[in-house]
Amino acid sequence: MNISVIGTGYVGLVSGVCFADLGHKVTCVDKDIQKVMKLRNGEVPIYEPGLQELMVKNAAAGRLSFTHDVPEAVQDAEIIILAVGTPSLPNGEANLQYIEQAAREIALAMNGYKIIMTKSTVPVGTNEHIRSIIASLTELPFDVASVPEFLREGSAISDTFHPDRIVIGTDSETVKEKLTELHSKLANNILITDVRSAEMIKYASNAFLATKISFINEIANICEKVGADVTLVARGMGYDRRIGSAFLSAGIGYGGSCFPKDTDALIQIAGNVEYDFKLLKSVVNVNKDQRFNVIRKLQEALGDLSGKTIAIWGLAFKPNTDDVRYAPAIEIIGELTRLGCTVKAYDPVAMENFRKSGNYENVIWCDAMTSAAADSDALCLLTEWDEFKKADLAYIEKIMNQPVLIDGRNVFTKDKIALTNFHYYSVGRPN
Ligand code: UGA
Repeated sequence: MNISVIGTGYVGLVSGVCFADLGHKVTCVDKDIQKVMKLRNGEVPIYEPGLQELMVKNAAAGRLSFTHDVPEAVQDAEIIILAVGTPSLPNGEANLQYIEQAAREIALAMNGYKIIMTKSTVPVGTNEHIRSIIASLTELPFDVASVPEFLREGSAISDTFHPDRIVIGTDSETVKEKLTELHSKLANNILITDVRSAEMIKYASNAFLATKISFINEIANICEKVGADVTLVARGMGYDRRIGSAFLSAGIGYGGSCFPKDTDALIQIAGNVEYDFKLLKSVVNVNKDQRFNVIRKLQEALGDLSGKTIAIWGLAFKPNTDDVRYAPAIEIIGELTRLGCTVKAYDPVAMENFRKSGNYENVIWCDAMTSAAADSDALCLLTEWDEFKKADLAYIEKIMNQPVLIDGRNVFTKDKIALTNFHYYSVGRPN
């Protein structure tokens, strides 16, 4: 099939590359000419394992191309994937400006029947809004479908090729057939729904996963007080198939471009129809506070933090990505410097993005985990990169001022710590 993808962010680029790899002819469109030039040169603007190789391979095979010319891309395609950003407005609502603009541009460029398949995360009713924008500008036939995306950063390629399910929200038989065919090689589980339910499935899924994380984080906080081990508790819970073991890793809370934005948006969507989503509000509040446990544990270990040097390992919101959007590290480092600490920060790939994410004073940017740890009064692990898991803790302990380790992701085993003199704090596990 001929497919055009509008927007080359995470979702757009990964979808475009993967559909090309399945043998379709794909054109990826972006307004940003510089970005298009880089993509044409084989440069990927994000860190995502395996993406660049797959992109270069499919571009070389002539199945994948990049352009900033929306009309050309629209005219060539039978399926147009909408994958533009829906960032948060100050009140938490999704900003639909880019969606609306893309819908207008598609309408004005159309030369025949098109299927517009929305992958951007959009509030319930948005696809109907897209339909009415396009219908107001063209008489040509078209259909709009909601096909939400469930890929995770860091494992985007494998998530796209092996999704747990594909959801197709449509009221058109043609779309149902075409999009089922398009996704048939990817998933056995294809669920056809109405458009509004598909839109809701995306928000409900992310909100539910966020709920699991905040739930296990609160259980961890209680475990710390009653002397239980949250990793064992989570394992015991997870064996129950009704609960499932995924997303029960306690830590410093969720970040990233999706959960914080989508939970806020769902609270707003509910509020717009006068429903007070109390549970989800609590999930968000628990998440906002969880990261500050790192500071509380530092205070317990060191007392007054003013004048202390604190090493930070990990800035990205999760491993295998350079994305720092809503990363817990942002607020943790902000609070540490506000309390008068000097911070020595290191991340294997997210350093540059993190530096650009704010105005950080009293932060020393380190080029290795050892240089961050050297002469520090405490070390905080905030992202569970493999590199940190393999660290030689005996050596790290020697080069630090004081052997204090706050493991925000439960990366180290008791046995590994027992070989050191670290004053060790993890999340929800007995010290
Ligand atoms: C999330 C969803 O998992 C995807 O299904 C969805 O497509 C995506 O949002 C989206 O809406 O685009 P992502 O944000 O890339 O994917 O990353 P996750 O692996 O879900 O992790 C999110 C955050 O939760 C991270 O900060 C991670 O550290 C945290 N987390 C995850 C935990 O604290 N504990 C866990 O057990 C799992």
